[in-house]
Amino acid sequence: MKFVRYSFAPIAFLLMAAAPNGQSIAHNGNNNGAMSCASCHGPTFGGNPALQAPPLAGLPVSTIETALNNFASNPSSNPMMHQVASALAPDERQAVAVYLSGLKAN
Ligand code: HEC
Repeated sequence: MKFVRYSFAPIAFLLMAAAPNGQSIAHNGNNNGAMSCASCHGPTFGGNPALQAPPLAGLPVSTIETALNNFASNPSSNPMMHQVASALAPDERQAVAVYLSGLKAN
């Protein structure tokens, strides 16, 4: 029984270490081809009219995630967002969507 109890600890640690950090991706990118979302959508994700980048803060998770999936799978959508979204793994898209959704709209 002791063996069973202690053997789960390293697994839990690995799962936590592997989970992508949505806040870090939103502010710094993923170091794997996806630029910081803030660089175009604004430092507080309130949008940037000059770039025609819409606000993201406070949008529903499903809206953000669906948009990212569509940008990724459709090269003729928006060239900037196609590049960003296709450089994000599905679990990174979800993590960044959850983070942005939790922010206050501005
Ligand atoms: C190089 C600039 C740029 C970067 C970097 C960028 N975006 Fe965008 N994003 C845009 C532009 C421009 C649009 C508008 C595209 C359109 O209308 O077709 C957009 C649209 C979106 C939309 C659609 C929103 C809506 O209401 O339809 C989402 C969601 C989104 N971006 C998420 C992200 C996330 C998450 C990141 C970071 C991982 C990111 N973007 C990084 C420029 C950028």
